[in-house]
Amino acid sequence: MANPSILILAGDGIGPEVMAEVKKIIGWFGTKRGIAFDVTEDLVGGCAYDAHGTPLTDATMAKAQEVDAVLLGAVGGPKYDVLDFSVKPERGLLRLRKEMDLFSNLRPAQCFDALADFSSLKKDVVAGLDIVIVRELTSGVYFGEPRGIFTEGNERVGINTQRYTESEIARVARSAFELARRRNNKVCSMEKANVMESGILWRQVVQEVHDKEYPDVELSHMYADAGAMQLCRWPKQFDVIVTDNLFGDLLSDMAAMLTGSLGMLPSASLGQPMANGRPKALYEPVHGSAPDIAGQGKANPIACVLSFAMALRYSFDLGDEAARVEKAVEKVLADGVRTADLMGPEGGKPVTTSQMGDAIIAALD
Ligand code: NAI
Ligand code: MG
Repeated sequence: MANPSILILAGDGIGPEVMAEVKKIIGWFGTKRGIAFDVTEDLVGGCAYDAHGTPLTDATMAKAQEVDAVLLGAVGGPKYDVLDFSVKPERGLLRLRKEMDLFSNLRPAQCFDALADFSSLKKDVVAGLDIVIVRELTSGVYFGEPRGIFTEGNERVGINTQRYTESEIARVARSAFELARRRNNKVCSMEKANVMESGILWRQVVQEVHDKEYPDVELSHMYADAGAMQLCRWPKQFDVIVTDNLFGDLLSDMAAMLTGSLGMLPSASLGQPMANGRPKALYEPVHGSAPDIAGQGKANPIACVLSFAMALRYSFDLGDEAARVEKAVEKVLADGVRTADLMGPEGGKPVTTSQMGDAIIAALD
């Protein structure tokens, strides 16, 4: 059988710096574990614009559709702020998400014990936290029509439309239930069924999919505002949360910050299964290209490394190997190895991006 294939799109700013550490880990899997990947690399974002006048060429798009998983670094930077909207670096990323139809965005919020002091919440509230927010990514109010700024009478009106079809809700619900079966068999669905018709439909469809296909999974429903409150109060009551695009945007950012630094947060965006049974998939750190620290060896590669661990788990069915990477990260943090973003005001000597990567490799060994 052919090796699993990966397309690396490192992008701009710290993207290539953090991706270099992931490449070391991919190499480690080849030499130490006999798990080889067919890796190709290409351009996305500002660097693609510089080379080709577009943030994502058709050829790169076609490659992304063919591989088992895409690993993306980050795109953008001040140099590109002057560009027309149609060729902005972010458009490359949006095109990937749209054309690969990546409707299910997995954002884990996981608190490593060594960083529990870093949270804005009390240590016992976050220590050991391990939840995943599943955010619908390709529909809802960010895409619904009509939208725009119109004139009505003598004033302007801004309009966006929250719109969800039954099938859009059902497929993201399935994705959450599947995830729950790999974890602790528990899903909480969040919407605003008290004030929004789209929320009423959301709740109905999630319940129907549950009753018909996943009766073994424990399902609860919560209004999203109450959910936000509960996430701050006692986040460990949750395991998998499934919610729409808008609420997911807010809730996942909030949940993520329970755990500390932006440099720690991975994500996966999944679509429909391909012919080989693997889902269309793109893995990327939550952070951006961090122009303020780019080129200085200061970036924390852990978000990108943990995104690769998610690829091992969700694209390649290598859950044990994913856990191995996560344990290595845990060990390195427990040993006190810190990039600058993980240091408190008391200071200390931070390691470089590359030293952090090497420490993770050493822990893997
Ligand atoms: P950002 O995430 O790039 O940076 C925010 C802050 O966090 C900065 O102070 C940065 O130094 C720090 N930071 C981020 N990642 C880090 C890491 N791995 N290690 C240590 N520190 C880290 O967000 P910002 O500054 O709003 O955006 C910068 C550029 O990135 C913009 O062009 C923006 O459009 C783009 N961006 C791209 C994203 C993507 O590719 N998915 C997501 C967010 C922003
Ligand atoms: Mg956001």
